[in-house]
Amino acid sequence: MNTTVDQADFFKTLEEKSDNGALRGDYSRCDANYVVQQDWNAYTPEQHELWRRLYQRQAKLMHGRACDVFIESLARMDAADGIPRFDQTSEALRKATGWELVAVPGLVPELTFFEHLANRRFPVTVWLREPHEFDYIVEPDVFHDFFGHVPLLFNPTFADYMQQYGKGGLKALKLDGLTHLARLYWYTVEFGLIQTEQGLRAYGAGILSSGGEVEYCLTDPAPRRIAFDVERVMRTLYKIDSYQETYFVIRDFQQLFDGTAPDFSPLYERLGKLPDFAADTLLPGETNIAPNGSKGA
Ligand code: PHE
Ligand code: FE
Repeated sequence: MNTTVDQADFFKTLEEKSDNGALRGDYSRCDANYVVQQDWNAYTPEQHELWRRLYQRQAKLMHGRACDVFIESLARMDAADGIPRFDQTSEALRKATGWELVAVPGLVPELTFFEHLANRRFPVTVWLREPHEFDYIVEPDVFHDFFGHVPLLFNPTFADYMQQYGKGGLKALKLDGLTHLARLYWYTVEFGLIQTEQGLRAYGAGILSSGGEVEYCLTDPAPRRIAFDVERVMRTLYKIDSYQETYFVIRDFQQLFDGTAPDFSPLYERLGKLPDFAADTLLPGETNIAPNGSKGA
């Protein structure tokens, strides 16, 4: 695909999406794949300090809430002392699962994003939020991308799933399946829950990088928690400006991989003609899985 056309398109969509049409990152230095240098030396002491505060608050919340592989990988990543150097993490990741990190100025076009994933490259935003955005941020920053997404890439099955998702994205672009495929990303990579012998745990990056939702998603009685099913997920609308009204629960990463392995072409065909489900739907016959800490859970 022609990068220039793609790029013009991308900025147009972002302008439509954001109030002032402004992009937060600096896109003037990126290459055709939207990759930049991390320029680690340019981070200020104040930014490293803010990172440490974000990291400490969040790391404390992981015990009993994040799945084991997240906690184990995070410990290995050695990112507590300041904004990490992406190339050091890449080195460890390459050895573990063959993935690497690439630095990007911020959101990138869908095609670019899928191409990175399909080639086992995870794009990480270089800029860090401002202190007043400590608890909430609209666009993904380096803390969300790195703390939330990178630990799971050390798990071989999840790492394979992410690559397959990227390939699936390239395919969905041609099949008009992106709306449905994006919901799969949302309800797994960003907001997925996993069932363990100790109870429910989170593996989604949107949850694990959030100070509040990480507890809410596991213990609050309000949201629905439904067993993962690809077709059900793809039909379900989602919230972008509040906690989720539904979480989908996997048994293990193998289920995620196997459940999404079949060719989605006929599924996109079928789903194109079926209505969506509201984000707070519980269908007849569906079990609402009990939250942690409730009786019988
Ligand atoms: N099986 C999907 C397809 O045929 C590819 C895919 C795999 C998509 C895993 C998402 C996640 O398009
Ligand atoms: Fe994310």
